[in-house]
Amino acid sequence: MTLQGVKFTGVGAATPSQCLTNAHLSALVDTSDEWIQSRTGIQERHVAAPEQRLVDLASEAAGAALQMAGLEPTAVDLLILATSTPDDLFGTACLVQTRIGAVNAVAFDLTAACSGFLFALVTAAQYLRTGAYRSALVIGGDILSRWVDWGDRRTCILFGDGAGAMVLQSSDVDQLLSFELRSDGRLNEHLTLAFAGTPQTLGENLAIAQGGFAPIAMNGREVYRFAVTQVPEVIEKALHRAGCTVEEIDWLVLHQANQRILDAVAERLGIPQEKVISNVGQCGNTSAASIPLALAAPIQQGHIQSGDLIATAGFGAGLTWGAALFRWQ
Ligand code: COA
Repeated sequence: MTLQGVKFTGVGAATPSQCLTNAHLSALVDTSDEWIQSRTGIQERHVAAPEQRLVDLASEAAGAALQMAGLEPTAVDLLILATSTPDDLFGTACLVQTRIGAVNAVAFDLTAACSGFLFALVTAAQYLRTGAYRSALVIGGDILSRWVDWGDRRTCILFGDGAGAMVLQSSDVDQLLSFELRSDGRLNEHLTLAFAGTPQTLGENLAIAQGGFAPIAMNGREVYRFAVTQVPEVIEKALHRAGCTVEEIDWLVLHQANQRILDAVAERLGIPQEKVISNVGQCGNTSAASIPLALAAPIQQGHIQSGDLIATAGFGAGLTWGAALFRWQ
């Protein structure tokens, strides 16, 4: 039997225990619970403690996903960690590999900001479809609280920390029905976490920039406009590729940026609210973690069931965006 398809067999999530509420933020910057909730739907978000590292969150989420899939860590062939906030700029995936004991896997990081998990999922699926690997662990994790300007009320209200993971395994039936990935670097300036080095002289006419990053900078209106126009389009493209209709979608699981964006995308597509998964009120925007983090609870609670059709879409810095249509298990 040739196994040239992909099935999704496990999901897991992890969030830090510390909760940052709108009341906390109101004490930090000139904002209010009413403003934040009405503009974003966010009530609270989890933030990592100073000693907490991405490897901790990513490994916890990965362990839960492997357990659901019933897969031993040693059976993982490929581990991709989507993140923009690594513990180590050289890569954090190998640290996760060692922590969970995925000793036979090849592990690497992938960066596509808030689209990172979706891009990693599609990347892993291609390795399985070619037969190169039989099982993959895809993790999305970010600790954006490290890089938020806590004096900037336009951005600090939005972001939270967390990690989520999914297990993909080779299958005779392909449960990844379609995908559509996009990027446009011309729009990069609208959302950045950019290198900002300090010049240092090494010799006569010889200077370099010593490391550092500027905090997250965002043009909120442009990002909002981009999301509500581009996301429905890629979902429609993915539906078209799969030969499916909007009515066939059981669940819409978007990158959890903002409740208004979730509502606007669902409305444009004509998807009723009861099919829209949201945890943005409790987690905020957790970047690469947000899609698996949103999926984990409804799957664990049995709301999302085997065979359900899930439309998912990521979007964010780059700018990057994309959609995938898949059946759970
Ligand atoms: N509390 C109170 N007032 C705030 C505020 C805050 N936290 N942040 C901004 N404001 C003020 C602004 O200063 C502005 O005041 P002014 O008119 O006196 O200048 C006013 O509120 C409106 O600002 P604006 O930026 O136009 O608000 P908005 O309605 O566009 O909402 C966002 C701001 C960020 C909620 C919205 O643009 C958004 O959701 N964008 C998408 C962001 C996103 O999802 N990014 C990540 C994508 S991966």
